[in-house]
Amino acid sequence: MFSRFFILGAAFLIFFLFVSRHSVTQIAYYNIFIYFCATKFATMNPFLIKHYKSPFYFCNREDEIEILMRNIENQSNTVFFSQRRIGKTALVKHLFYLLKSGDHSCIYLDIYATQSLKEFIDQLANSIYRTFPVEMSIGKRFWESIKLLRPVLSMNPMTGLPEMSLDISKPTQVERTVAQLLRFLESQKKPVLIAIDEFQQILEYPEKNVEAVLRTAIQPLQHVHFIFLGSNQKLMTHIFHDAKRPFYAETKNLVLQRIEKDKYNDFILKHFHKAGTKISKKTIDLILDITDRHTYYTQFLCHEIFSRSPKRVTADYVYKVLYQILSENEGVYYQYRNLLTSLQWKLLKALAKEEKTPKPFSQKFIKKYDLGAPTSVKRTLESLIDKELVYHQSMYEHSYFEVQDKFLMRWLQYKF
Ligand SMILES: Nc1ncnc2c1ncn2[C@@H]1O[C@H](COP(=O)(O)OP(=O)(O)OP(=O)(O)O)[C@@H](O)[C@H]1O
Ligand SMILES: [Mg+2]
Repeated sequence: MFSRFFILGAAFLIFFLFVSRHSVTQIAYYNIFIYFCATKFATMNPFLIKHYKSPFYFCNREDEIEILMRNIENQSNTVFFSQRRIGKTALVKHLFYLLKSGDHSCIYLDIYATQSLKEFIDQLANSIYRTFPVEMSIGKRFWESIKLLRPVLSMNPMTGLPEMSLDISKPTQVERTVAQLLRFLESQKKPVLIAIDEFQQILEYPEKNVEAVLRTAIQPLQHVHFIFLGSNQKLMTHIFHDAKRPFYAETKNLVLQRIEKDKYNDFILKHFHKAGTKISKKTIDLILDITDRHTYYTQFLCHEIFSRSPKRVTADYVYKVLYQILSENEGVYYQYRNLLTSLQWKLLKALAKEEKTPKPFSQKFIKKYDLGAPTSVKRTLESLIDKELVYHQSMYEHSYFEVQDKFLMRWLQYKF
């Protein structure tokens, strides 16, 4: 595999070979050209563990994309949730990539950090502003439409991106502004698709009737459609599937599960082979077993293996890398033990050992791991779910409980 240093070295070598016969400017251009060509084709780690890059680095999800596209075509809003790090955000980014040259304008906002409806509005205004910068005529129109709200732009020191804040304070003004921003999008020629990530955060806002306010603003829209996504199953179910709440039966559901085994195997094989690394399908199956096919942990393990540039990946090599990952995380895992009660820790270990536990309140399970009264197991399990250490996988035919972090699960299995 090429490293950038190697490429730079090659560029300098060519520089010296040519130096006798060409002008300095010509040689400089040759070098820049060679450097850019080589870095473009240099093998970057194809197993992404952050952000979305392009379809080449994205595995499958064809069925989900088909459903999302169909919902968009039929002008339906979609909601989907899944356990953490399974690939919700990446799926939306992939969808936006595929829609890039199409009819829709796509707006993405992550509201995880927002604490109020006012901050939600700022976030929405920011996302619109970033999607339609003032250099575009629509951006100019947007700026004009919010001028009365005295937008203030500042630079976010963390992201280096401009950030907008609107001057709104009264509750009625807040409600009106949500509708105003959405009406602006509705009045544009192109239909708009808005994806709101970590949507369950709206339940944390102190303002009253947030769901009703949003639903009232969203309902009349004909050309603006939404994808709501979130990682807290309990809260998302609360918002969308409780008959007494405003968003009930307003959206189509999409279930996001693990990537199919064969598809993931092919994807991993393709990327290792492209880099000249030998790996068998059987060894990839081992990787997928270790990570329980959970997207983030699979990507992470493959990323770590790839970054060591092996010529051949064997089962032993996979275990060696896994062991290194677990050793690096060990300090954090011991911290968990210090922060949990002894029953929480005991139950976590029991769930890790079982991998998938369909009946954590059964006599058999409780007796096997000496967990005490079923009522305290129930309470303890709920607290582990709230802490996002355990996940209740209830969307399969047979529901079960599992440790969310697959590396923590493997560490607990091997250490205790
Ligand atoms: N289909 C895919 N192919 C390859 N990599 C993927 C795929 N989906 C997700 N990933 C990678 O897996 C990781 C987790 O994905 P992502 O952040 O989208 O999950 P998430 O469900 O939104 O997580 P969270 O619940 O923390 O918001 C990312 O590094 C992403 O690049
Ligand atoms: Mg996400």
